[in-house]
Amino acid sequence: MLPLTSPIEMQFPPIVRFGDGTIKTLKDWVAQKGYKAPFVLADAANAGRLDLLDLENVTCFSDVVPEPDIPNLYKAIEAAKGCDVVIGFGGGSAMDLAKLVAVLIAQDCSFDDISGPHRALPRKVGLAQLPTTAGTGSEVGTRALMTNPETLSKVATESVHMLADLAIIDPALTMTVPARVTAATGVDAMAHCVEAFTSKRSHPIIDNYAMMGIELVGRFLKRAVEDGSDAEARTGLALAAFYGGVCLGPVNTTSGHAVSYPLGTRHKLPHGIANALVFPHTLAANAAVVPEKTDKVCQALGFEGGSNEAVLAGAKAFCESLGLDMQLRAYGVPEDDLAAMAEESHAIRRLLDWNPVDLSVADIEAIYRAAY
Ligand SMILES: NC(=O)c1ccc[n+]([C@@H]2O[C@H](COP(=O)([O-])OP(=O)(O)OC[C@H]3O[C@@H](n4cnc5c(N)ncnc54)[C@H](O)[C@@H]3O)[C@@H](O)[C@H]2O)c1
Ligand SMILES: [Fe+2]
Repeated sequence: MLPLTSPIEMQFPPIVRFGDGTIKTLKDWVAQKGYKAPFVLADAANAGRLDLLDLENVTCFSDVVPEPDIPNLYKAIEAAKGCDVVIGFGGGSAMDLAKLVAVLIAQDCSFDDISGPHRALPRKVGLAQLPTTAGTGSEVGTRALMTNPETLSKVATESVHMLADLAIIDPALTMTVPARVTAATGVDAMAHCVEAFTSKRSHPIIDNYAMMGIELVGRFLKRAVEDGSDAEARTGLALAAFYGGVCLGPVNTTSGHAVSYPLGTRHKLPHGIANALVFPHTLAANAAVVPEKTDKVCQALGFEGGSNEAVLAGAKAFCESLGLDMQLRAYGVPEDDLAAMAEESHAIRRLLDWNPVDLSVADIEAIYRAAY
């Protein structure tokens, strides 16, 4: 909780377009910039509708693995040779890959040379991001997450050079997202806002974006899950995901993401589902230290906060109302891995050092056991 007087830097893509139909403006931007060889990273759901982009001479990499790993990145870089603009068209998986392809293509360096904070070299190609889920906010951020299959950890890379030249957030692109993915990605957007809002380095500027994002999720997520064709709800969620992306930049997440990461890297749970399973537990674990902010979160999501038990029960019921099974055991996570997961999560200091409560390895293991 930093005071208003503390300095903060926010970075955005120079152009962010938002609204139904804005996808149609990509073509003119590409022409204005003089790009002749677009390289599109599209996940399985989007590779079949490249016609929406209306581009010529496109090379498409459609082999985007959900929760991508380093081998997937190298495959994409190989396919991108000769391109002059990289376009991420999909969820966070496609967009994170696009960021890394854009900074690594035509450079004499490897992923290891640039992973971590602020090591990437300036890009030699353009970068545009077109989110098709309402979740990660990756389109407006400087960070990308890749799984290292050898260590089973998520490697975060961050650089101003990974910021897009153009982000087009066209909520109509999200209308086809299935209910379960809508729920999971919406919880991810909300988790970005909640964790930034309650972080030790939360900042009044970012708090306002965070609250707007949480309120939008409270108002629209259930509606979009129940009726995927609800255009107003889809737009509200696309905006919430954008606000979440704004929160990720200067503040970032804390325990919710740190505790959820091993579920994705070790057991292949989708990022949003992993977040949802952990969210009630970390919100409750932090409640006593940030009671006022926790109450605001609970109210924005439609339930009363108060005691740890009330926060936990309310947040769990909120996720269940989205149709999510909130028992870790239902996702094939073996119980005998919980201790190793807790060790791994506890080592994610870049996030946990900012959590309002200092969670020990035992505390994290207790969260997994309670969620199991
Ligand atoms: N860079 C960041 O700041 C940041 C933040 C949060 C998460 N992430 C990363 O993003 C990844 C998760 O992204 P995600 O949650 O968007 O999931 P995703 O990109 O893996 O997509 C989830 C599924 O939805 C499908 N899909 C995407 N758009 C669709 C559409 N319009 N219609 C139907 N299906 C569609 C995809 O094909 C995929 O099967 C993880 O790797 C996570 O670590 C990055
Ligand atoms: Fe996330």
